[in-house]
Amino acid sequence: MPGSIVVGTQWGDEGKGRVVDVVARECAHVVRYQGGHNAGHTLVVDGETFALQLIPSGILYDHVVPIIGNGVVVDPYVLLAEIDALSEKGVDCARLMLSPQAHLVLPYHQILDELAEAQLGANKIGTTKRGIGPAYADKASRIGIRVEDLLDPDHLRLRLNSALAERNVLLRDVYGHEGVDPDALADELIREVAPRVAPYIGDTIGHLHEALHAGQRVLFEGAQATFLDLDHGTYPFVTSSNPVAGYALVGSGIGPGAIDQVIGIAKAYLTRVGSGPFVTELNDEVGDLLVDVGREYGTNTGRRRRVGWFDAVMARQAVRLNACTEIALTKLDVLDQLETIKVCVAYEVDGQRYEYLPHLRRMHDRAQPVYAEFPGWQRDLSEVTKREDLPREAVEYISFLERQMGVPVRFVCVGPGREQYLRFAA
Ligand code: IMP
Repeated sequence: MPGSIVVGTQWGDEGKGRVVDVVARECAHVVRYQGGHNAGHTLVVDGETFALQLIPSGILYDHVVPIIGNGVVVDPYVLLAEIDALSEKGVDCARLMLSPQAHLVLPYHQILDELAEAQLGANKIGTTKRGIGPAYADKASRIGIRVEDLLDPDHLRLRLNSALAERNVLLRDVYGHEGVDPDALADELIREVAPRVAPYIGDTIGHLHEALHAGQRVLFEGAQATFLDLDHGTYPFVTSSNPVAGYALVGSGIGPGAIDQVIGIAKAYLTRVGSGPFVTELNDEVGDLLVDVGREYGTNTGRRRRVGWFDAVMARQAVRLNACTEIALTKLDVLDQLETIKVCVAYEVDGQRYEYLPHLRRMHDRAQPVYAEFPGWQRDLSEVTKREDLPREAVEYISFLERQMGVPVRFVCVGPGREQYLRFAA
């Protein structure tokens, strides 16, 4: 069946939105399957910038049904603000479908996220403070509030009362916060949020199955990335959901047979926001140049991203974890000015060489990069539209990465504009 997954192979911000935007042209449905408004996809369409956090970027196409799956955590205020902003720009949001099983991120989740980070001090995770972790924690603790609870005011009140009976203890006794009044929150949700969210709630699972059976292509859009995955990332410096491709199934309610394409998104260098290990990190003028040229500041939080060389060890591991069938290489043009480009091809830990991530997380902290070096192309790639027009050095860089990862690169981005990309045929 025709299902495609787009998944980040690094620490997020690989430019997934760009690739989704192009692939979505050939799809009937685009689904978000995990995460929440900690994601930030920026799209430049006809010179206008769209920054989307929750709504799948496929919304910008009239033929696409954008779906927020059951695995996503939804801040209803952010959702409504995005709908309003898109509507103001003339984008019709009536097609949007929201899973009733998705959990809500509510104001007390955000308060808890902020207070927990402050308490951790120097050991903080560096979260986006959007309440994502506490919302997923409530889901696992079975005190979460689901989208469908908005449809039943009495039930919503009961659920909020029992959730806040627990969470207020934490807020008051551990963090010295005054706590959140469940009845006031319920009143507000019933009055202002529920009537506006209700029209978007639908049978996302039934809809997806019918589409897949009818042979319509469905795109599953991962947020964050492989090494922010709760299981496979650099724990505890991870997000609280599973961005890996396998979770596209769980987070949208389909089975493995539906997937025939997994596109791994890799930036031509590496970035990370927040704390945690970073073997190829650059704290020098090359790093500053990558931040400047690549505009490496969070879409969502404005934070300066940490930058480093491409890490083929992580990329290989990501290809394994997600069963990537191809790679989309983004931001190649950011390397245009460099005289020399490095790629980390292996790690050395205690004198031993590793081609994949060492199986113990603490070995990752001690890993030293083994680099291969390449001459840069030192030419502007932003106008290139065909593989034949790429400088020889750029072609060699791409081919080297393909050999390192063991899967073909089918898509290369050379600028932020919607059409600044090259596509390589299979
Ligand atoms: P949280 O998802 O807000 O809990 O943050 C946990 C970690 O994931 C932090 O290191 C964040 O910086 C990182 N993170 C969350 N969302 C994104 C994203 O969309 N791009 C990059 N990093 C992210």
